[in-house]
Amino acid sequence: MRSLDTANVAGRRVLVRADLNVPLKDGRVADATRIERLVPTLSELAGKGARVIVCSHFGRPEGKRKPEMSLAPLVPALAAALGRPVRFTPDCIGEETLRTAGRLVDGEVLLLENTRFHPGEEANEPGFARALARLAELYVNDAFSAAHRAHASTEGVAHLLPAYAGRLMQAELAALDAALGHPRHPLGAIVGGVKVSTKLKLLGNLMSKVDFLLIGGAMANTFLAAEGIAVGRSVEEAQRHAEARAILAEAKAKECEVLLPLDAVVAAELRAGVDTRVVPIQAVPAEMMILDLGPETVGAFERRLCELRTLVWNGPLGAFETPPFAAGTVAIARAVAAATGRGLCSVAGGGDTVAALTVASVAGRLSYVSTAGGAFLEWLEGRVLPGIEVLQELKP
Ligand code: 3PG
Repeated sequence: MRSLDTANVAGRRVLVRADLNVPLKDGRVADATRIERLVPTLSELAGKGARVIVCSHFGRPEGKRKPEMSLAPLVPALAAALGRPVRFTPDCIGEETLRTAGRLVDGEVLLLENTRFHPGEEANEPGFARALARLAELYVNDAFSAAHRAHASTEGVAHLLPAYAGRLMQAELAALDAALGHPRHPLGAIVGGVKVSTKLKLLGNLMSKVDFLLIGGAMANTFLAAEGIAVGRSVEEAQRHAEARAILAEAKAKECEVLLPLDAVVAAELRAGVDTRVVPIQAVPAEMMILDLGPETVGAFERRLCELRTLVWNGPLGAFETPPFAAGTVAIARAVAAATGRGLCSVAGGGDTVAALTVASVAGRLSYVSTAGGAFLEWLEGRVLPGIEVLQELKP
């Protein structure tokens, strides 16, 4: 994959595909992580005298111009992160945009309006990709988190301009390679979240790679119920029992040790401050629901964690958004952070996972926390991401 190391950018217009799909609250950026992670690429380009043209999608406007999905409110946050002014164009293609891009001077940064305001973006229409390509002489993809989309700005345009991977893209790929491509064994995985049905492919792929797997969150209930354990009123997917059993059988065949909850925090309902009890997993009362891992499970995980050299994590392990059901996820997160300090390579990703690590105040103490949600999941599933594939096709 070509990187900025070999790109000759001085005095040239460079189209950078960023992922500025960040949360906004009252018109202001609520979490600037994705913006901050773009700074190395954008500052390097501007510092080398490139004329930097940043494009991104924002939300899902379905090919229509929707003012509430404009990228304009992101200009101050991007300028603050870069420490330099950022210009803005009210469209991402067209004559006016071309003129603005053409007037950029070396080191200037221009942000284009939401690419998804045009239906050609998601349809990966060649005409739309050509219109984007006309703006620049080089293309840099720094949006790993959008690389699972074969859209004009993530895939189509890479065929039309000399294409390079940006620094964030490189960092994401290096972390994922360390976690799953060429990991140091023993390799463990934590998979949580609500539904087994959304993680079947991921579990299937991980099974052949990892030595140890902790399954938590509501999806663990499906595995427990499939094994004949009564889970009371817990959320579970009764129609997925056969698949859950098949996954456990496959794990056994591949000598992957699976840790399912040994105990649980249960309550009559999912509500902040509700009365809770810790029960062994075989003793979940019929009128209660499992809402978090219990301390015995956390202890068993911690003992196993000491032996691991690599860990990949996707999905929270309990109803962490509702106190007090964050305790299990927080305890595991802190144990992972401490183990990372002792040499564990730990890589986490997925929107909820990052939110859970933030609740535990350890997001900065893992080896790598991905900015990606869907793309991270698809990578863990072993899928080829079109935005990456197109960069790999090009010889350095
Ligand atoms: C994300 O937030 O995961 C990416 O920006 C992709 O967004 P999308 O799911 O709307 O394509």
